[in-house]
Amino acid sequence: MAVSRFGVSLENDLLEALDSYVLENNFPNRSQAIRQLIERNIVEKKWQCNNIVAGAIILVYDHHKRDLINKLTSIQHDYYKEILAVQHFHISESVCLDIIAIKGQSHRLTELSDKLIAQKGVRHGKLVMTKTDDQYKD
Ligand code: NI
Repeated sequence: MAVSRFGVSLENDLLEALDSYVLENNFPNRSQAIRQLIERNIVEKKWQCNNIVAGAIILVYDHHKRDLINKLTSIQHDYYKEILAVQHFHISESVCLDIIAIKGQSHRLTELSDKLIAQKGVRHGKLVMTKTDDQYKD
């Protein structure tokens, strides 16, 4: 993709904040840091506006918890069109980690994530929001 250069004027304290951000996050340069900040903003906008987006839901849960796996599976069946793949890892004798790759209208994906994370026995859940760059809509 073609790259354009442009000058940016910033107050000194903002520039210092940008440089700290670059250092703390190990960005190779300011351009990469600014690029990531803009991308994050675009992703957030896409999720707010119910666009077709992609992401992943990460769940850590206790597999001994009564009925939990059945509930999690049943919820996922209601959203089978949005789920691309599910990866399951046994991370200890009783704890499981699922990574659920998703794509679809952002409101549906948020709804799915909220339902899964709210189940009793889910110790930790996180929705990672990203985007698709194509215009594909199903
Ligand atoms: Ni497991």
